[in-house]
Parts: sequence; structure tokens; C-alpha cells
Amino acid sequence: MSRTAVYNVPARWLHWSIFALIGLEFVIAWTMPDIRRDTRPIGLVAWHLGLGTFILSLMLLRLFWRVASGVPDPHPAPAWQEWIARLTHVLLYAGFIALPVLGWANVSGRGWTAHWAGLITLPALAAQGAAWARPLGDVHQLVAYGLLALIALHVLAAVHHHFIMGDGLLARMWRSSH
Ligand code: HEM
Ligand code: HEM
Repeated sequence: MSRTAVYNVPARWLHWSIFALIGLEFVIAWTMPDIRRDTRPIGLVAWHLGLGTFILSLMLLRLFWRVASGVPDPHPAPAWQEWIARLTHVLLYAGFIALPVLGWANVSGRGWTAHWAGLITLPALAAQGAAWARPLGDVHQLVAYGLLALIALHVLAAVHHHFIMGDGLLARMWRSSH
């Protein structure tokens, strides 16, 4: 496992592009029409499904890259902070993999077909009308808001370290050279 002071270039690119796409996905979720029984997966709803499944694939790629290439040594901090940072990162990975899968299973149950990035037909995760997939729409929504709170914690911690403690933490994920 490589041990350097900053995250490597692919890890940084994946971090910030996924950040931008998740931001866009929330804006689409808040703008798209309410999803009811007679809603069709067109327009912004189709964008939500296509972008969401694309984010899922980027998260899986990122997880693979993290395991394959390693991460820098933890930033020096008291043990409890290091522990919370680690837990937050694990939950962000698990959450942003589970969230699109929950949405995907819910739309399969509705009898809709999800397309990866809006382009490639994905298999159904649940049979049309499957009772277990129905509540997953609400679970998906709840998990999304839980993750939003976790992102707020993550950003507050990063900003606090960088600007208030002045320890340059952001450079670990931002540096543009080497
Ligand atoms: C990172 C990816 C995703 C994020 C951040 C996200 C976020 C959200 C949010 C915030 C809502 C609630 C909107 C509201 O408050 O009205 C929502 C609803 C929904 N999303 Fe996603 N979503 C993602 C991926 C997906 C995927 C991949 C699918 C399906 C393939 C999907 C299907 C749905 C459906 C069907 C609803 C409506 C649920 C219901 O009201 O029963 N989402 N999403
Ligand atoms: C959708 C929003 C975000 C998600 C899902 C997210 C996720 C993550 C994850 C999983 C890590 C662990 C490293 C890895 O394996 O990639 C990480 C690290 C980091 N993130 Fe984010 N992040 C988000 C937004 C932000 C924002 C807005 C900032 C800055 C204001 C930020 C700053 C950092 C920094 C500085 C690190 C390195 C922390 C360390 O080395 O201990 N992140 N992020």
C-alpha cells in the first residue's frame, strides 16, 4: 500500500467529480416531479435514474481504486477524531453505494427500467410489483437525507481543520502537483 502525504491524482479526481455529480443529483431530486403510481420515468426523473446509476459506478470504481492504490497515512489528530473521520469515510462509501441500489430496486418494483448513465439498459433488481421494493422509495429518501447530514459533518471538519486549525488538511485532497 502506498504511503504518501496526499491522496493520489485519480483519488482526488474521483473525490471532486463525485462531489459535483452528487450535488447535481440532489438538485435534480428536488426539482423533479413527485413520484406517484402514475408517474412515468421521463424528463428529470429519467435524469435522476441515469445520473444516479452513473454515480454508483463511479463509487465502485473509487472503492476499487482505494483498495488497489492505498491511502495516505492518517492526518495527525487525536485518536477520537481519527476514529470519527474513519467512520465518516466508511459510511460515505457504504451510503453512496447503498443509496443508488435502493433507488434502483424501488424503480424495478414500479416496473420501470433503469439505464446506466441513461444509455445502457440495466437488469431489474426486483420483480414488477414486488412488495418488498415498495417501501424502498421512502428508505432511499431517508438515507439520502442522512447522507446529506454526514456530508455537512465531513465538510465542517475539513473546513475547521484547514481554516481554523490552519493545518492545511484540504491540500491532501486538493493539491494540483505531484
Ligand atoms: C447518489 C445518487 C442518488 C441521490 C443523491 C439521490 C437522492 C434522492 C433524493 C434526495 C430523493 C428525494 C427527493 C424528494 O425529497 O422529493 C430521491 C428520490 C428518489 N430517487 Fe434518488 N438519488 C440517487 C440515486 C437514485 C437512483 C440510482 C435511482 C433509481 C435508479 C433513484 C430513484 C429515486 C426514486 C424512485 C425516488 C422517489 C422515491 C419515492 O418518493 O418513493 N435515485 N433521490
Ligand atoms: C458529496 C460530498 C462528499 C463526499 C461523498 C466525500 C467523501 C469523502 C471520502 C469517502 C473521503 C475519504 C477518502 C477517500 O477514500 O476518498 C473524503 C476525504 C476528504 N474530503 Fe470529502 N467528500 C465530499 C465532499 C467534500 C468537500 C465539500 C470537502 C471540502 C470542503 C471535502 C474534503 C475532504 C478532505 C480534505 C478529505 C481528506 C481527509 C483526510 O485526509 O483525512 N470533501 N471525502
